[in-house]
Amino acid sequence: MNPHTAHPIEENDMTITDTPLTEEGAAPAVPAYHLAGVTKTYAQKGRVVQALKRVDLDILAGDFVTIQGPTGGGKSTLLQLLGALDTPTAGQVMIGATDLATASRSELERVRASEIGFVFQAFNLIPTLTAAENVAMGLEPLGLDRAERSARVADALERVGLAERADHRPGELSGGQQQRVAIARAIAKRPRVLLADEPTGNLDESMRDEILAVLGALNADGLTLVVVTHDSAVAQRARRRVRLDKGIVRDITR
Ligand SMILES: Nc1ncnc2c1ncn2[C@@H]1O[C@H](COP(=O)(O)OP(=O)(O)OP(=O)(O)O)[C@@H](O)[C@H]1O
Ligand SMILES: [Mg+2]
Repeated sequence: MNPHTAHPIEENDMTITDTPLTEEGAAPAVPAYHLAGVTKTYAQKGRVVQALKRVDLDILAGDFVTIQGPTGGGKSTLLQLLGALDTPTAGQVMIGATDLATASRSELERVRASEIGFVFQAFNLIPTLTAAENVAMGLEPLGLDRAERSARVADALERVGLAERADHRPGELSGGQQQRVAIARAIAKRPRVLLADEPTGNLDESMRDEILAVLGALNADGLTLVVVTHDSAVAQRARRRVRLDKGIVRDITR
């Protein structure tokens, strides 16, 4: 079974011929996220910043969503909530079946450790470690045994096309390859969702295309993608495009 297929039960359901299908004949859509009336307010030195204003947003499992918008619009703030790294000031954030507001600390730790992968503009690789060792870092919270860990590291590097570079250190890799190592680190835990904040921001065009190809392949395998980007070439690949301006979200999918 494909480890990135988020909901194998849905797949199995489709093989039962007398299971009623939806009108389009598709399997029932499973929500990856449900946000309702989400507001995020930062107070700093007596000034109040409303980074998100009553945001309603649903993201389906397997979707590829990009978030665009001007600087300060609230994109990174939204990604922090989707990553269970912060909590809203008001409103509801559901990550799958987990409610950010009521989940226990250990439940949130589990969600962060196993369900959500992160990729950033700065690759954040450790320069003294090899690609394989950097990828293995992403698995640390899972406490896997050595054999499972190395199998996952090898699989993740294979998926981003870097099996042959496992022993290279970041300084011995191109920018695009370094970002692919960062993606491998994020997917080694076999998350349901990959969140990326400007993953191509530090890359030239050809390296950007490498990253887009990798992201596209992961999405085709069922991984849900939410990508913050200023790059319209990235947004063009998305199934759904959302714009965030002054904390207000708008669907701009054509
Ligand atoms: N920790 C914080 N404390 C106070 N204000 C914050 C904090 N984080 C973000 N903000 C403010 O919230 C608003 C939204 O910031 P955010 O980082 O989400 O924007 P962004 O869309 O990611 O911008 P960029 O494209 O520049 O990365 C900005 O006005 C920012 O100054
Ligand atoms: Mg940002």
